[in-house]
Amino acid sequence: MKKIAVLISGQGNNLQAIIDACYSDYIPAQIACVVSNKSDAYGLTRAKKALIPQSVFLRKDFANNLAMDEAIGNYLEKQSVDLIVLAGYMKILTPGFTQRFAGRILNIHPSLLPKYAGLNSYQRAIEAGDTEHGTTVHFVNEEVDGGAIVLQAKVPIFPEDNVEDVEARTREQEYQIYPLVIKWFTERRLVLKDNVAYLDGKALPEHGYASEDDEEK
Ligand code: GAR
Repeated sequence: MKKIAVLISGQGNNLQAIIDACYSDYIPAQIACVVSNKSDAYGLTRAKKALIPQSVFLRKDFANNLAMDEAIGNYLEKQSVDLIVLAGYMKILTPGFTQRFAGRILNIHPSLLPKYAGLNSYQRAIEAGDTEHGTTVHFVNEEVDGGAIVLQAKVPIFPEDNVEDVEARTREQEYQIYPLVIKWFTERRLVLKDNVAYLDGKALPEHGYASEDDEEK
């Protein structure tokens, strides 16, 4: 059975969706460990409740980011994890780390990438007058919120919406699409080759599976 590590910094709602999906055998994998860069992350409590080993790595305990990521990498290698899932891990990983685990790191970001990489994506979408928003699961490379897109989910933005409305609508989608993509990976249906994501041997279009750019072809 494949082994997954989940990296978190906060609430861990996506972590919970992944825990539930593993426990119900929807994802045929075991969560080997949960790693946090914040000692008060509520996701650690979720992991504890699910009897999943947890580790906290604090930046202040390391000379630099490189040393911290090397220590996390060594820990994950010791656990023989096949896949690293970033679930609200709010620290930028060093290129050394992303290269070390190339093709084996997934991230979820609350926007329709490449739009609104970085912070405050909901606020930025509302301020720009967008009528739709969404979330993206992608492989991780050296670029922040870069890397091949696997799957996106879109949600509407209505004129009366505030940040909380758009976030709630988007999060609902996150808890569906992240477990699905992790399932594909653990079933060996999803792979990354030369920075291109392939599902069942077919290269995914720029915006991921079933995107409109695929339909246009
Ligand atoms: C999620 O909405 C995720 O998309 C976002 O952080 C939230 C974590 O929530 N990730 C990023 O912004 C990464 N750039 P959670 O801890 O409740 O799962």
